[in-house]
Amino acid sequence: LFAGETVFVKGVVAMSGLPDPDRMEVCFAGRSNVGKSSLINALTGTKALARASNTPGRTQEINFFTAGDDLYLVDLPGYGYANAPLQMVEKWQRLLKQYLGGRQTLRRAFVLVDARHGIKKVDDEIMSLLDSSAVTFQVILTKADKVKEAQRDAIIEQVRGALAKHPAAYPEIVVTSSEKGWGIPTLRALI
Ligand code: GTP
Ligand code: MG
Repeated sequence: LFAGETVFVKGVVAMSGLPDPDRMEVCFAGRSNVGKSSLINALTGTKALARASNTPGRTQEINFFTAGDDLYLVDLPGYGYANAPLQMVEKWQRLLKQYLGGRQTLRRAFVLVDARHGIKKVDDEIMSLLDSSAVTFQVILTKADKVKEAQRDAIIEQVRGALAKHPAAYPEIVVTSSEKGWGIPTLRALI
């Protein structure tokens, strides 16, 4: 997972466009603007490999990156909000569900949750989808630089409580800040 080793492979808008399932992959899911693309950039030590932006709905395709020949990192379109016509949003949501439920080589989904906001209803719905697809998932708190410690700890408790209801949840919660580099080495080691 180092700069120069990680390259963009393709952006996919339909299941038929997925690359061959010839290696393991992990994906990054989460509400729009939660920091998925920024986290991939921080993990791979690149500034703009995955396009990040202040406009929710920036990532509109399922973007595949390779790290060496053994792994795909997958940047997903955000759910829950998108600054786009409803028809388009529905199309992404459908693709997202098909991908999460039907990709054999998907080893783990990281569900990103804003450290200021905690788990929302849409997150819970995605987690239930992962349960029923038997995809192990792990929660990553993002933007930890934007919260005070006490607030962060309260959110961690909220997330713990929510995870207890999900059989596919991996219990360890990773706290990160792409901006400050917090939690990035931990996550890199995990992957
Ligand atoms: P979509 O592709 O729209 O679903 O968004 P995304 O989840 O990929 O979010 P993205 O990485 O584009 O980040 C959204 C905004 O949050 C950008 O303005 C980032 O600079 C900001 N951001 C991301 N991570 C952090 C962080 O750790 N700390 C702070 N302070 N800001 C962050
Ligand atoms: Mg994005």
